[in-house]
Amino acid sequence: MQTSIQINSQLSLTAFQQADIPNMLLYLNDLEIYQNTLHIPYPYMQADAETFLEKTRNNLLKNGALTNWVIRHETHGLIGAIGAMAKQEMDGHLDEIGYWLAAPFRNQGIITAAVQKLTDQMFETRPLVRIEAHVFSHNPASARVLEKAGFQKEGYLRKFHRKKGLDIDSLLYARIRTDG
Ligand SMILES: CC(C)(COP(=O)(O)OP(=O)(O)OC[C@H]1O[C@@H](n2cnc3c(N)ncnc32)[C@H](O)[C@@H]1OP(=O)(O)O)[C@@H](O)C(=O)NCCC(=O)NCCS
Repeated sequence: MQTSIQINSQLSLTAFQQADIPNMLLYLNDLEIYQNTLHIPYPYMQADAETFLEKTRNNLLKNGALTNWVIRHETHGLIGAIGAMAKQEMDGHLDEIGYWLAAPFRNQGIITAAVQKLTDQMFETRPLVRIEAHVFSHNPASARVLEKAGFQKEGYLRKFHRKKGLDIDSLLYARIRTDG
């Protein structure tokens, strides 16, 4: 089983560990992350991190491969996360990704590189034809990431997400295997 994906000399994607919890608490208590994602709680507590780690362990057992990745810096440890939903288990033709990066590390191309590496790995190791990403319409940075990573914008989905009683418009992006 593949346990690491190298992004560059300092960064790799690896599994979540118990020792990552302090960085999760440090970086996920960030309103910008809360306001741009569907399921990450705010404030972000120890119990939220424990629950998420348990979920990653269950996903590993169910999927037989890692789908939840830490973005790990060789000196700073966990600085973000990226994952695939395994929407059709591991043998379907489509899947969806999501990601976040800690505030001090933004605007250096890190998530763009992580999206490129992870989606390359997903096409190489699974029979996927299509990888999707949904972006809240108020998140131009994430839309830009996907464009830079070779995704195409396919639609504007009005009121697609419901979060805490709010209906939020979504931009739909996808990378198709034959896009290169
Ligand atoms: C969105 C996010 C993942 C981007 O990560 P990142 O590593 O900073 O992304 P990159 O550096 O690879 O690229 C960011 C791009 O967005 C651009 N950008 C940043 N803020 C922007 C804004 N307000 N409007 C337009 N573009 C913006 C940057 O200039 C850069 O594009 P460029 O290279 O053409 O200059 C990060 O900001 C984040 O975690 N945000 C909170 C959580 C989140 O939004 N998750 C995604 C949910 S879909």
